[in-house]
Amino acid sequence: MATSDYGLMIGMMIAISLASFVSADPELLQDVCVADLASGVKLNGFECKSNISADDFFFAGLAKPGLTNNTFGATVTPASVLQITGLNTLGVSMARIDYAPGGLNPPHTHPRATEIVFVLEGELDVGFITTENKLFSKTIKEGEIFTFPRGLIHFQINNGKVPAAVIAAFNSQLPGTQRVANAVFASSPTVEDVVLTKTFQVGTKEVEKIKSRLAPKK
Ligand SMILES: *[C@@H]1O[C@H](CO)[C@@H](O)[C@H](O)[C@H]1NC(C)=O
Ligand SMILES: *[C@@H]1O[C@H](CO)[C@@H](O)[C@H](O)[C@H]1NC(C)=O
Repeated sequence: MATSDYGLMIGMMIAISLASFVSADPELLQDVCVADLASGVKLNGFECKSNISADDFFFAGLAKPGLTNNTFGATVTPASVLQITGLNTLGVSMARIDYAPGGLNPPHTHPRATEIVFVLEGELDVGFITTENKLFSKTIKEGEIFTFPRGLIHFQINNGKVPAAVIAAFNSQLPGTQRVANAVFASSPTVEDVVLTKTFQVGTKEVEKIKSRLAPKK
């Protein structure tokens, strides 16, 4: 191998190893860049606004429990860049999740973030599934923490008799949430039935039933 080939190879290896360190949002290039959510400019994140104040870094929305009187008996209250515009370019965000007894935060992924949850109250059965379809699950209670690695499908259910709540932290300003069932059964426009009947090895009737149950409420 010629010397220049070695140079190229080493360069590529460095590039690959550097790329593997970039596991969350990109590095910031300035102290702050408070998101101008109203701006029409599209870039990787949000345009910075110039007239900023402490309130751009503040949010009181996680102080109180979210309502859990919905289909799943659980509610996620996000505290992302969309609620705290000061988070733009900072690579972190939070959420609060409240669960009625029996409440489920159904299987979903965050494409852009690892999640770590801290149990505020109650007890939850939680788990994530690896790309080898191995389930890692655990029961966690008040004061305990569990981690859901970036991109992996995970869930939490309150099998207890009292309400439960967690505070979640993410290494992304906007982790993104994709619920497995809603993605495949309630997309817009909808995925054609044959894809779902073959995938789930069931008939059209079953697929139509699930689609109607998960259809976005008007
Ligand atoms: C900056 O924002 C504050 C409130 O957030 C407002 O009172 C003030 O008029 C704004 N100044 C400018 C120059 O836009
Ligand atoms: C949930 O409860 C709140 C307040 O108790 C009520 O305003 C709301 O309509 C309820 N939602 C559903 C879906 O029942």
